[in-house]
Amino acid sequence: MDNRPIGVFDSGLGGLTALRELRRILPGEDLVYFGDTGRVPYGTKGRDTILRYARQDVAFLRTFDPKAIVVACGTVSANALTELTAENPLPIFGVVSPAARAAVEHTQKKQVGLIGTSASIRSGAYEREIAALAPAVTVTARACPLFVPLVENGRFRPGDRVAELVVEEYLAPIKAAGVDALVLGCTHYPLLSGAIAAFMGPGVELIDTGAVCAGYAARLLEEQGLLAQRAQGSCRFYVSDSTEDFSHLAALFLGAAVEGTVERVDVGAY
Ligand code: DGL
Repeated sequence: MDNRPIGVFDSGLGGLTALRELRRILPGEDLVYFGDTGRVPYGTKGRDTILRYARQDVAFLRTFDPKAIVVACGTVSANALTELTAENPLPIFGVVSPAARAAVEHTQKKQVGLIGTSASIRSGAYEREIAALAPAVTVTARACPLFVPLVENGRFRPGDRVAELVVEEYLAPIKAAGVDALVLGCTHYPLLSGAIAAFMGPGVELIDTGAVCAGYAARLLEEQGLLAQRAQGSCRFYVSDSTEDFSHLAALFLGAAVEGTVERVDVGAY
């Protein structure tokens, strides 16, 4: 039993898709979320910058003495997880490995699609994990740099013509490859899953990286006897930009109003 909080972070709002799932499956846990809304997006940055930001995000979360940290960001997981786990003496869970495993388990045709930020796709991290698990699986990958700004601006609802057009443009080659599993390799993308599923058609499993990672982290914490013993935990939110903008958009990601405090933090000082 360990009643310390679980830290969760992302470059912005996307990691709330993982937090939502953690809340659902582990309601007794205290969760501390950090969204680097002042520096989002990470996915267009170089690896050195992503690593520097990620180290500061982890250093900030460690001030809460967390028992574990969930890196609810595809870009950080793909580019900085090795360093973060080596430098910090606590379990740090990324999204790449659980998502790769879920894709391999789902694909019958041995054709997996992968979409993510430019930095995630450039890293080759998902392909390496999938090749290690199932060398016969072919991955068709595509960076989708316009998805994050669409989502952060609330342009993801079914029927949004701009979102539909961008989805079609990015996903056409992946659909043509005949994939039956598509890794949404960025935690922002599940908000576009209505438009993505409509374009890809039935028979294509969409892998929600945040949700899959949350399930994986929960299983491991349980196995290690590290779950909290209380009926209802709390949520605290920290951002590096305006708290008002966060609360409004976060409700869309969480599917409910933000419960718990939201505070602004100068993450660059960590
Ligand atoms: N949520 C981040 C990810 O999963 C993407 C946003 C960004 O580019 O910072 O990659």
